[in-house]
Amino acid sequence: MKSKINNQLKEKYEAINQDFEDYLEGLLHSKPINYWDYIQTDALLNLQIQRTVFPDEMVFIMYHQVNELLFKMILVEIEQVAKSEELTASLFTDKLARISRYFDMLTSSFTIMKDGMDIEQYTKFRTTLTPASGFQSAQYRKIEFASTELINLIDKRFRDTIDRNSSYENAFEHLYWQAAGKNYETGEKSYTLTVFEEKYKDEFIRFAQFYSTKNLYSKFKELPKEAKEDEALIAAMRHLDYTVNIKWVMAHYNTANHYLNIGGQTVEATGGSEWVKYMHPKYQKRIFFPDLWTKQEIEAWGTNI
Ligand code: HEM
Repeated sequence: MKSKINNQLKEKYEAINQDFEDYLEGLLHSKPINYWDYIQTDALLNLQIQRTVFPDEMVFIMYHQVNELLFKMILVEIEQVAKSEELTASLFTDKLARISRYFDMLTSSFTIMKDGMDIEQYTKFRTTLTPASGFQSAQYRKIEFASTELINLIDKRFRDTIDRNSSYENAFEHLYWQAAGKNYETGEKSYTLTVFEEKYKDEFIRFAQFYSTKNLYSKFKELPKEAKEDEALIAAMRHLDYTVNIKWVMAHYNTANHYLNIGGQTVEATGGSEWVKYMHPKYQKRIFFPDLWTKQEIEAWGTNI
């Protein structure tokens, strides 16, 4: 057994013109691995920098960081589906179940934001955060680009003007989330949106190009007929769509309502959107997999929760 591994290692290094003995010597001097180096706990636990002295600001920062880590886990799973050449209904269902578990966790844990911070503290530390907004989470946008065809992310008002021949630039200008930071009469963009685009627009366009044919919805559509009719797969697709685009969005909206709607008076959000209308799922009807819902279900989107 030992000599078999020895030979395999030799072959491995010979294949790349490396001397196996040198690697063995390196192994002799290398440190044993431990938990904190592997998980990078020191680096991870040094990333929480408050802007104020209020203890609940730590809840806010850390919960966002937990979200970003989960977003990354979701993107890793979606990438595996995108790159898979031999997708079956059961493999697809398994991957969707993984993604949904992360999103279920994001949704059920959102009460950490809604009920887990003192309103008085929140109201004070949030004033130091303008003009930043969760709206500027690039990974959240990437999850959307990787989940569905671009047309389903276009603002409903402009969908008829965009088709396969539209440039990515043009489509980008009409994404639903432009509405959070753009005055459509003057074309003027808010600072929050402008700096977000300066940092990520090129990356988003490259990303959206890659996923134009490899997003979850396209991957589903190109499965053989039998797989597309698989009940477990359809249920998994619908569960994900519902969780992301109704449950998560509602948990988020309820949180905004909790902090930014005081006695019926709404307060301006740090990112400056008209958030009451912008955030409620019934207005935008964001749906990743529209063919999997009935006309009635689409009409009632976001109204029964
Ligand atoms: C107290 C907690 C929170 C409040 C009050 C809140 C409020 C808001 C508001 C009002 C917006 C609309 C844009 C704006 O004008 O700023 C927004 C957008 C957004 N926030 Fe939050 N948020 C909270 C927590 C979070 C968390 C934990 C995340 C997770 C990363 C998050 C991610 C997002 C995303 C992705 C958007 C854009 C959503 C879209 O375009 O529909 N938010 N948030």
